[in-house]
Amino acid sequence: MAADYTRQINSLYCASNSAVLHFNFKVSGDFNSKDFSGKRVALGVTGGIAAYKAIEVLRGLQRAGCEVRVAMTRHACEFVQPLTFRALSGSHVVVDDYAPDNPDPIAHITFSQTVDLFVVAPATANTLAKFANGVADDFLTTTYLACTAPVLVAPAMNTSMLEHPATQRNVEKLRADGVHIIEPDKGEMACGTIGPGRLSEPDAIVGAALEILRSGARANRGGANRDLTGETILITAGATREPIDPVRFISNRSSGRMGFALALAARDRGAKVTCVAGITSVSAPAGVGIINVSSAEEMHRAVARESGKATVFIAAAAVSDYRAKEQ
Ligand SMILES: Cc1cc2nc3c(=O)[nH]c(=O)nc-3n(C[C@H](O)[C@H](O)[C@H](O)COP(=O)(O)O)c2cc1C
Repeated sequence: MAADYTRQINSLYCASNSAVLHFNFKVSGDFNSKDFSGKRVALGVTGGIAAYKAIEVLRGLQRAGCEVRVAMTRHACEFVQPLTFRALSGSHVVVDDYAPDNPDPIAHITFSQTVDLFVVAPATANTLAKFANGVADDFLTTTYLACTAPVLVAPAMNTSMLEHPATQRNVEKLRADGVHIIEPDKGEMACGTIGPGRLSEPDAIVGAALEILRSGARANRGGANRDLTGETILITAGATREPIDPVRFISNRSSGRMGFALALAARDRGAKVTCVAGITSVSAPAGVGIINVSSAEEMHRAVARESGKATVFIAAAAVSDYRAKEQ
């Protein structure tokens, strides 16, 4: 970079308290902060090929300080042994509350009503269907019905199973019942199919769980205020990043937390939400359309494209005040 260009950037840094010169490094998440110590999470594991990834979800929640107890369906035990979760959680893993070795005689009540959050990852099509229809024929589904905490489910299944109208109906029912859904990723499945249905990354599931814990959300069990149903809300979130050259850029310290919190609240009140997200250091909420952008120019273009569909626009992003004249 030419010397006078450096001066221009340095003066820019000094003149504006919102523009900060950064080098290109990955912003670390909050998973290791122990901010969540004392939070109790029930982790439900169901019988899908991604059951082994629940181990990473457990570890991520523990790294954030959460105390985690695990419940598994019988089919989940075909994929991962309860012993693995018992060793890592330090607690008895409930599969069958009728089993004589179950230390708690009314585990489905104590398990579900003493936690701050119930996470089910992975959630099979079968378990989603049972949750959506109030079927309580095993420990996990009985726990769901008895649960007074917010519930986060991470569906994972073959694309055809996911796209089946019955599964889509069940997901929508759960959403209407106030369940937080973390959408599955697209990619190559164990069966060789390429499409949506892969379990969302464990870090994203942990991020969504921590976001729910942080927001202090309560279970709404269908009784929530859905007064934004029918609204299409467009929200910008996070910082923009203005390149100076391939390595350096101008940005700011916005985390995206405000924009994502607005998106979460709007989604929970029934709105269809799209977030145009710049650079963020917190996880995007589940059940919200995310359009990732980097510069202010890109954000502007995305907002112009999407705003025609929106009934409400909220600008919560921290858009850079400056961009380099030349790169
Ligand atoms: C090898 C194998 C992999 C499976 N993977 C999935 C899966 O990823 N998602 C799913 O919904 N079902 C999957 N199934 C089917 C479920 O195991 C089956 O529907 C079962 O009844 C689920 O029980 P649960 O919901 O009580 O755990 C798989 C079955 C087998 C044999």
